[in-house]
Amino acid sequence: MEEINASIDVDKRLASQDIRGSLAHVAMLADTGIVGRQDAEAIAAGLRQIEGEVAAGTFRTSRALEDIHMNVEARLAELVGEAAGRLHTARSRNDQVATDFKLWVREAVDGLGAELVDLQRALVERAEEHAATVMPGFTHLQSAQPITFGHHLLAYVEMLERDRGRFADARARMNTSPLGAAALAGTAFPIDRAATAAALGFDGPARNSLDAVSSRDFALEALAAAAICATQLSRLAEEVVVWCSAPFSFVRLSDAFTTGSSIMPQKRNPDAAELVRAKVGRIVGALTSLLVVMKGVPLAYSKDMQEDKPPVFDALPALSLCVRATAGMVRDLTANEEAMRALAGKGHTTATDLADWLVREAGLPFREAHRVTGACVRAAERSGRELAELSAEELAAVDGRITSDALGVLSIDRSVESRTSLGGTAPERVREEAARWRARLWS
Ligand code: ARG
Repeated sequence: MEEINASIDVDKRLASQDIRGSLAHVAMLADTGIVGRQDAEAIAAGLRQIEGEVAAGTFRTSRALEDIHMNVEARLAELVGEAAGRLHTARSRNDQVATDFKLWVREAVDGLGAELVDLQRALVERAEEHAATVMPGFTHLQSAQPITFGHHLLAYVEMLERDRGRFADARARMNTSPLGAAALAGTAFPIDRAATAAALGFDGPARNSLDAVSSRDFALEALAAAAICATQLSRLAEEVVVWCSAPFSFVRLSDAFTTGSSIMPQKRNPDAAELVRAKVGRIVGALTSLLVVMKGVPLAYSKDMQEDKPPVFDALPALSLCVRATAGMVRDLTANEEAMRALAGKGHTTATDLADWLVREAGLPFREAHRVTGACVRAAERSGRELAELSAEELAAVDGRITSDALGVLSIDRSVESRTSLGGTAPERVREEAARWRARLWS
């Protein structure tokens, strides 16, 4: 029974939150006259001492005492004697654990918010540097159209902004205090829930005691946001892996973010990127795990809910590590502009520009322009060259409406410079967007 029932090995991570919750609770008990001043002061002093022991790593826990709440209370009794027994007045472990866990998740979410900003800043800085660096843009991982590296990096800044928004929304929604809901029905003592809520930085008390002790959707929402964020980071990680590979050679990571092979001396493996790509597995797993734990649990508290912590304690720190490692890689990488440029022009990537020229200058309907350009691409392929390498005569031989004026649009620089539509890849748009992010992320 002890082995299955005890949670101390997991919930010892809530020690600091548990003590803060108890300090708020005992201050309120004294202010409302539920517990005498002297006892309350002795309890608070004892709790502060335990806080110091936790910080110093000398706080001893025992599995026989089941969980962090009982361990702290037992230590308090050792320190202050009988007064310790008054701390649990008008409280239950049910509202206590919900409060502690919420405080923990809230701190984790706040930490992630700040780390995401740091990653966004790293991406914006590199985007400014590479606003005009031309690279191939892909669809289906097939060369599609030339783009700028800065534009590609800013795509992730947008994605991460929505991740940050999801965490911020989750935080705003979770910020009500369960403390004072007691076991499930509230209490007959004249407690002041608004006071404990304010002391712990909550917007106010949760309005229904059953909901307060039973709900873990705050943790689910944080895990859902984490799963989405980890999924987005895994895409950047995958791109870094691809970009680092010899056939691409778009970027180089320093020794700080690569590892060597024990047998192949030439290897520089992007292990950090691979691990970011892989950690999404446990983060999505954590969300699934908690969803299944919570499914079908009748109100109010059931011990099922003790299984809420391992997935959260695993996933949110894992995501934090992924965000920090990704920021490190983004700052570390060196772009190989020559390699990007060389591949940007391979695969007839400016074919759309020729089709657009036929629409604009020769008045063709786009579908017809698409067909004519396709014929030009086939002519290039027959001679083993790129579309941009064909002469004006060769192009005119495919379709007489193509004049030498069309050659200009086949250059990759012209191509990216021309894509000035809002949200487009043109260097001037990338610089504008980077400036927008600067004003937003550095204020
Ligand atoms: N260790 C428990 C948990 O994490 C604390 C709450 C226990 N409540 C109870 N009624 N047994 O869920």
